[in-house]
Amino acid sequence: MKEPAIRGHWSGRWAFVVATAGSAVGLGNIWKFPYMAGTNGGSAFVLVYLLCVIAIGLPLMMTEIMLGRRAQRNPVDGMAHLSAESHASRLWMGVGYLGIAAGILILSFYSVVAGWVLDYTVRAATNDFAAITATQAQAQFSAMIGNPQELLLWHTIFLFLTMLVVARGVTAGLERANKIMMPTLVTILLILLGYSLAVGEVSRSLAFMFRADFSKITPAAILSAMGHAFFTLSLGMGAVMVYGSYLQRHISIARATFYVVVADTAIALVAGITIFAIGFANQLEPAAGPGLIFQTLPIAFGHMPGGRVFATLFFVLVGFAAWTSSISLVEPAVAWLIERRKLSRARAALIIGGLIWVIGIAVLLSFNVWSEVKLLGFNIFDLLDKLTTNIMLPLGGLLMAIFAVWVMRAAHVKEELGLNERHYRYWRFATRFIAPAAIILVFLNLLGWLPGV
Ligand code: PFF
Repeated sequence: MKEPAIRGHWSGRWAFVVATAGSAVGLGNIWKFPYMAGTNGGSAFVLVYLLCVIAIGLPLMMTEIMLGRRAQRNPVDGMAHLSAESHASRLWMGVGYLGIAAGILILSFYSVVAGWVLDYTVRAATNDFAAITATQAQAQFSAMIGNPQELLLWHTIFLFLTMLVVARGVTAGLERANKIMMPTLVTILLILLGYSLAVGEVSRSLAFMFRADFSKITPAAILSAMGHAFFTLSLGMGAVMVYGSYLQRHISIARATFYVVVADTAIALVAGITIFAIGFANQLEPAAGPGLIFQTLPIAFGHMPGGRVFATLFFVLVGFAAWTSSISLVEPAVAWLIERRKLSRARAALIIGGLIWVIGIAVLLSFNVWSEVKLLGFNIFDLLDKLTTNIMLPLGGLLMAIFAVWVMRAAHVKEELGLNERHYRYWRFATRFIAPAAIILVFLNLLGWLPGV
């Protein structure tokens, strides 16, 4: 098969680790994880989530990087290339298309929520939360999501920022943005952790997150923890695959994966500890749901010393986390347009960005003007979230796992992974049995075939 045109590459192992960690660490860690832990009994959810990350997330991330690096192509052409190499059907290309579609759909709601974050950064900086009451915080949030112009403005700004980075390419865009934003993000998080140690209720927060209470491990908590493991590690949609395709041959996939998974998990846990410690110090409920960081935290910050500065830092942190993830959501589609359709990067970014912008408008209208519009019983925002997180990502992950262990030649996989025999056998067992069984369980649950869930 013909080699693709010259493609960009990461400058080294750290560039890849930082960029992939940048993709993984996002709204999923700082917005979704704390509220999901908060509404699913805290420690029970955290424990199952950690198990899923180790047993399913780790081997699947290695699989996805392995597929990308072996192919050295975007996910669509990459799957076509790998299936030709294994004398398998070209239909496996569908996995790439599924990923491109998932990325576009995820970013169209992700960008709207990231827009709320930008809006809240400005509110925090202008001291909007000072001495705010619970009712006022709620009213502030409702007023924002009820205002389509305001949402459109921030959605447009966030998407523009995303596309600006993507248009600059792998090294000058993706790598540089991640190398600036990720260390800043970690520094801010540590400052906030220090702040919560000083003024928050850290011991209550730790007990809430880690004191194992097995009675709270319900089937529903298990399944949502598993779905979240996919989302938070950016698995199943080709983002990690395309990042892996920019990775040089000599770099160890296992070690890079380990660093990414540890960074993602550590950041989610520290964010959770910090947010709950600040919340508990102000007698706030951990089970507030999706409004946790937008309605509950402002009340806490509004009543704490230095609240204005720390609230601003907090929303800048969430904004950076979202930005480094959003660029990875479009990269599979952009790489495909460049390599297959021979478009320039700037033009590819413009086309994909335009498409996401339009779908995003439907999403932001679903909070106000179109709030009554229901498809399959969900509003547009919920529908896209459920469709992608619960169906498209696990399905993509399942197909990639099947492809790697049943379709590809073991010798090729072994060569690419470069593991010792014991680790290779663990990877193979997890990819062949544990991950598919777990994903199929999620699907059965979705279809309502599992009693008592
Ligand atoms: N991992 C990101 C988060 O936790 O916010 C979301 C995400 C990014 C999902 C990229 C999927 C993806 F391909």
